[in-house]
Amino acid sequence: MIKKSGACAREKAYIKYKEMIKMAQLWLSGIISYLVGSFFVLKDHPMGFIIDFTKGYLGMKLAGIYMDSGLSYLLASSGLLFGHAKPLFYRFEGDTSEALALGIITFMSPYFGLILLLLLLILKFLFNDYDSAVFASSVLIPLLSFKFFKSDSFIIISLLMFGILAVQFWPPALEKRIKPVILTRVAFASLLVFIILLFFFNKYVYKGFGAQRDIIRRGPEHFKYVAITFDDGPDPVYTDEILDILEEKNVHATFFLIGKNVEQYPDIARRIVNEGHSIGNHTYSHRSLIPLSAAATREEIKKAEEAIRKATGVRTTLFRPPRGVYSSYARRFLKDERYTIVLWDVSAMDWAELPPESIVSNVVNHVKPGSIILFHDSGDLVGFKGGDRTNTVRALPVVIDELKARGYEFVTVDHMIFLAELMKTEQNVENHNDN
Ligand code: NI
Repeated sequence: MIKKSGACAREKAYIKYKEMIKMAQLWLSGIISYLVGSFFVLKDHPMGFIIDFTKGYLGMKLAGIYMDSGLSYLLASSGLLFGHAKPLFYRFEGDTSEALALGIITFMSPYFGLILLLLLLILKFLFNDYDSAVFASSVLIPLLSFKFFKSDSFIIISLLMFGILAVQFWPPALEKRIKPVILTRVAFASLLVFIILLFFFNKYVYKGFGAQRDIIRRGPEHFKYVAITFDDGPDPVYTDEILDILEEKNVHATFFLIGKNVEQYPDIARRIVNEGHSIGNHTYSHRSLIPLSAAATREEIKKAEEAIRKATGVRTTLFRPPRGVYSSYARRFLKDERYTIVLWDVSAMDWAELPPESIVSNVVNHVKPGSIILFHDSGDLVGFKGGDRTNTVRALPVVIDELKARGYEFVTVDHMIFLAELMKTEQNVENHNDN
């Protein structure tokens, strides 16, 4: 008894430790971006614009490679802008953030970046004054951001950039009425409050605001069932081993396949379907959907769909975005294409190549009726293939046995959605009868 609670305390400490690491990583990405923003600040230099633009674009790209989440992009852009305005090593009155901001925006949406650049050039031609042109186009950043970005963190980034640019390029004519210094103080105070709130609502922000009916993270809690899912396959070694285990335990799961891997291992994709498992689309090459243009987003989704259809004959309607992040465009497109976005509420964290015991405890300590559990049968930390899944293969039978012992049944995600729809219909009938 004592021993058991001791183990439980260790589990909790371990989870706390993982969360702390994640937090530290986020801050580190902010600090790295600050350093990137600090370097090569050239004022009144013909190359300055191009260098700043590149810094903005590459700084965001770096943060994305390091940690692909809305929050890390937000910290990265704050770090870049702050580093540029207040460089680490020298004093400098920074009012050249416009090219940096343009680089950041172009990373988030190339169309938006292009529109802003054209607008800046037209306004400069009209006003015959660069600073006024920057000020006027900065006003459009927050307005247009609501059109271009539905992602909360990108909208916040736009507001932040607008604040900084408006202060830096404040027209002298307005200065008599409102001093830009006051604006700066208000902007920094709001930014601080915002960042504190963001950390407070960390989980909330990750999941986005409001109800999202086209996205599922779990099924209803009414039945004692769970859906096991595997991402990034097929893999020439581990997928077969996992399929053997599932067959032996008589469990059906859902596999989110990467188009490129399906093209390389069509036989394994066919085996998944033939043995009664569900499959979903996990993009063609596992690129993050957030920085992609509309055309590239469509290509990632449709090319994977085609590869899966060609190998298995199945046109899947389940989609899982790489790393669980998606753009507003991707979401709209997927809806039009009759896809359901499937996320998860329990992660085995096996991508971190944890020991099997940790993978088991990550799942069994967090599972609830209706949970969607995330495993990986392939995928490296950065690349989409080549990870070591030996520990996933070792942990899987233990997880299945433990959950079976607790009375859980295993369903595919399709089945889970079907049951959820059925329950909705029943509720409607009941409500109707009540009236
Ligand atoms: Ni993935």
